[in-house]
Amino acid sequence: MNYEERSRAQVRKLKDQEKVRILSLETSCDETAAAVIENGRTILSNVVFSQIDLHELYGGVVPEIASRAHMEACPRVAAEALEQAGMRLEEIDALAVTCGPGLVGALLTGVNYMKGLAFAADKPLIGVNHIEGHVSANFLTSPELEPPFLCLVVSGGHSHLVEVRDYGEYRLIGQTRDDAAGEAFDKAARVLGLPYPGGPRIDRLAEEGNPEAFSLPKPKTEGRYDYSFSGLKTAFLNLCHQIEQKGEPLPKADLAASFRNAVCTELAEKAERMLRDEAAAGRRPAMALAGGVSANRELRRRFEALCGRMNVPLYMPRIDLCTDNGAMIGSAAYYRLRREETAGLDMNAMPALRLVEDRR
Ligand code: KG4
Ligand code: ZN
Repeated sequence: MNYEERSRAQVRKLKDQEKVRILSLETSCDETAAAVIENGRTILSNVVFSQIDLHELYGGVVPEIASRAHMEACPRVAAEALEQAGMRLEEIDALAVTCGPGLVGALLTGVNYMKGLAFAADKPLIGVNHIEGHVSANFLTSPELEPPFLCLVVSGGHSHLVEVRDYGEYRLIGQTRDDAAGEAFDKAARVLGLPYPGGPRIDRLAEEGNPEAFSLPKPKTEGRYDYSFSGLKTAFLNLCHQIEQKGEPLPKADLAASFRNAVCTELAEKAERMLRDEAAAGRRPAMALAGGVSANRELRRRFEALCGRMNVPLYMPRIDLCTDNGAMIGSAAYYRLRREETAGLDMNAMPALRLVEDRR
């Protein structure tokens, strides 16, 4: 039997095993992260090595530097995840790694490292979609959550409204037509002279500012549930330049609060429209948030208020599980394993991998 045949046989046996432990690795952007997850729901360890200080100097992620740093960190972070879980590699049932979307070089370092480990240890390997990982962070935080539910996925590269119909089964409801929400936060932060990554900094600064201080244009989109952030971003840049041209100092807290307010309004309003349409059709599905931007305090408050008003249950990942981590990859991998979706040694990095195909 070759590796792939042995892997398939092992996976069939795992389906009857009471406890399935997965060692997972995430290297799609600027975090080298590994975790050990039991049955897709319990975190036995979760180690995140952030490269932020390596990229801060350049104001954003430098792909070459990221790949090199991942290469150095992978063995260390994986070993630490095992150690913190109190397990040896032999006791692990399967391995998982993010295979896309993300930076191609960064993804490749993780994929190649895990392929080597899977072959050497003779363990099944699962390739995980990074966005599916973000959605799955909710399964780690809320043990009672089961599909179907609706999910707003907001990260540095994505702003999607999806229906999670079942584990691994998604329907696209709406998406951004231009920039992602996280990207918009990062660009606005840059104009305010805040260091990378800007989203969390704007969020903190906004807590001290007046969200009504400046009014920004309301984005317009053709799709009923689609988003747009590029007009908002340009209007914000123009506003800041106008203030600077007058020789006045930037009222940073007010600007941050006004920008955050505009982004959160756009995100919440489309979600509200979706929930109202669902209610009109006699459905009251649960709502979840996912991705780095779901750590945003104002966004969390908005959705708490919205879901309270609409009388639908709201699920949000624990703050540290909103941004990139290995635990969410291990959770998503468990449900792929149950469907026997394992990878062969020919698995490649897929930088443009999608969660669901465009409906148009
Ligand atoms: O999900 P994530 O860690 O990586 C991607 O898959 O992209 O998301 C990172 C993005 C960055 O744009 C970052 O600025 C943003 O999430 N972010 C935030 C907050 N925390 C992270 N944006 C707004 N408020 C936050 N608290
Ligand atoms: Zn992410």
